[in-house]
Amino acid sequence: MARARVGVLISGRGSNMVALAEAAEAADCPYEITLVASNDPDAEGLARARMLGIPTWARSHRGMEREGFDALVTTALEEAGVEYVALAGYMRMLSPAFVARWRDHMINIHPSLLPRHKGLHVYARAIEAGDSESGCTVHIVSEELDSGAILAQARVPILPGDTPEALAARILIEEHRLYPATLAEYVTR
Ligand code: GRF
Repeated sequence: MARARVGVLISGRGSNMVALAEAAEAADCPYEITLVASNDPDAEGLARARMLGIPTWARSHRGMEREGFDALVTTALEEAGVEYVALAGYMRMLSPAFVARWRDHMINIHPSLLPRHKGLHVYARAIEAGDSESGCTVHIVSEELDSGAILAQARVPILPGDTPEALAARILIEEHRLYPATLAEYVTR
């Protein structure tokens, strides 16, 4: 059976992208990563994608209007034959047109137990709120930030004396398990 063609959007180190790509190396994985795209040509993850032999596309969004930039991203994804988009540390607000183009074909991973702690600085906020646990969420992307239908979550405890960095590292381990498994389920749903 043909595997679903997935484009991964990154802005930074790309560890989730690597986890998705490594899972796709299994013969029975229902998806393949056909493009890694970034709004930052210096994103560390681009070099990691190239080392894995995955085609990359990068263009700085600076000086561009949001909708125009997103249209370039869509063109790059379409030229690579992408059917599904996985956001993995993509630090850009998306235009409504981009969300509409990829509706029900675009997912994101967020390092909190949504709907708790949308947006940024989630580790410090979870600790400061006195939460006893946090985790990560894979969800469908909708117009509103971090608010689409939840597909899967993984939980980790928040320990006494936790720092944002320690909590982030504990959650990241779970992200690398949860995202490939959830993407595989999503493309075969
Ligand atoms: C991850 O914590 C992800 O949940 C969030 O941004 C971070 C990206 O890390 N959306 P990486 O680039 O995948 O290493």
